[in-house]
Amino acid sequence: MKIVIIGYGWVGQANALALTLMGEKVYYYDIQAYKPHYSSRYSAVYGRVTSLSSPLGQDSENTCYLVCVGDRTLPSGQQDISAIKSALTSLSETKGTVILRSTVLPESLKSLKFDFYIPEFLHEKKAVEECIEPHFFVIGERIKDSKQPPFFKKWSRSAHKVFRGTPEEASYIKYLSNIWNATQIAFVNEFGDSIKKPATREDVDASKKIIDFVLGGGSYVRYGKSFGGHCLPKDISAFIYKQKQKGFEASIISGIKESNGLHEQLQKTHNVLPEWYSEWQLPEISLVTSLKIIARILYRKIFYLFK
Ligand SMILES: NC(=O)c1ccc[n+]([C@@H]2O[C@H](COP(=O)([O-])OP(=O)(O)OC[C@H]3O[C@@H](n4cnc5c(N)ncnc54)[C@H](O)[C@@H]3O)[C@@H](O)[C@H]2O)c1
Repeated sequence: MKIVIIGYGWVGQANALALTLMGEKVYYYDIQAYKPHYSSRYSAVYGRVTSLSSPLGQDSENTCYLVCVGDRTLPSGQQDISAIKSALTSLSETKGTVILRSTVLPESLKSLKFDFYIPEFLHEKKAVEECIEPHFFVIGERIKDSKQPPFFKKWSRSAHKVFRGTPEEASYIKYLSNIWNATQIAFVNEFGDSIKKPATREDVDASKKIIDFVLGGGSYVRYGKSFGGHCLPKDISAFIYKQKQKGFEASIISGIKESNGLHEQLQKTHNVLPEWYSEWQLPEISLVTSLKIIARILYRKIFYLFK
């Protein structure tokens, strides 16, 4: 099996490096020169991923394409998937399997040609590791019970949770996950601001003490800076826009966006709020399960060491 990554940005590189480390032969194609995002930890692995000068340069029945091209959200909130459409069109003559990894609204998937929709849930700071052991492995099959590429088995085994359904269901899971993460951040920040305006570190600590007592201070529920980055703001705006178009007022989700905007204004004048890095929180597990996981990690570490 050959894997070709189409779009070598954050998601494309994380998938390429992870799959290379998992023992796959990986190629990439991008319409522009790439900037390495994970070279501090994985510079040696970059050399094992081969560049292609055309997307179908390694095409065969055993080639699997992972399309990791970015979407955009226009100022109106409308999602622009023209780059994704153009990447999929460049693969229209393939004999292989096409897997879409970009974030696409459920309603837009019908117009796209692919075999599997597998949305990506990684965080940029631990992207390669999260790509080897995904938190969610969500498989949206275009045709029910299609034959899956062999490396799906590895992801299914290492994932914390696996879902199999339609591409539309997979997309709703992606948006639900992003919007839920954003909701928690916005809610905690709004509550913190209501206790005390964060003018000094002591003010921040005073609000934090109350919030952490109830919510535990874990990922996404820590009082701090507003949510931003490449994904949450654009995905929420696109979701709200689409719902409005369908005649549905997503009032709570719209409120999250508004609340985050107000908090963003506040942090411009009160620059003491901490920036949090959030990651997937695993539920508490039994001793036996913990030992099984440790044994699996050790086995994998030894396996990669001798590869
Ligand atoms: N960045 C993240 O943390 C993250 C996490 C989960 C999901 N996502 C989603 O994954 C998708 C990709 O995000 P990203 O952050 O990797 O984007 P990115 O901008 O870093 O990378 C996209 C790459 O695609 C390339 N490209 C554009 N058109 C192309 C074409 N026709 N053929 C080949 N390459 C082409 C671009 O040159 C760019 O290098 C988005 O839909 C995003 O929402 C991103």
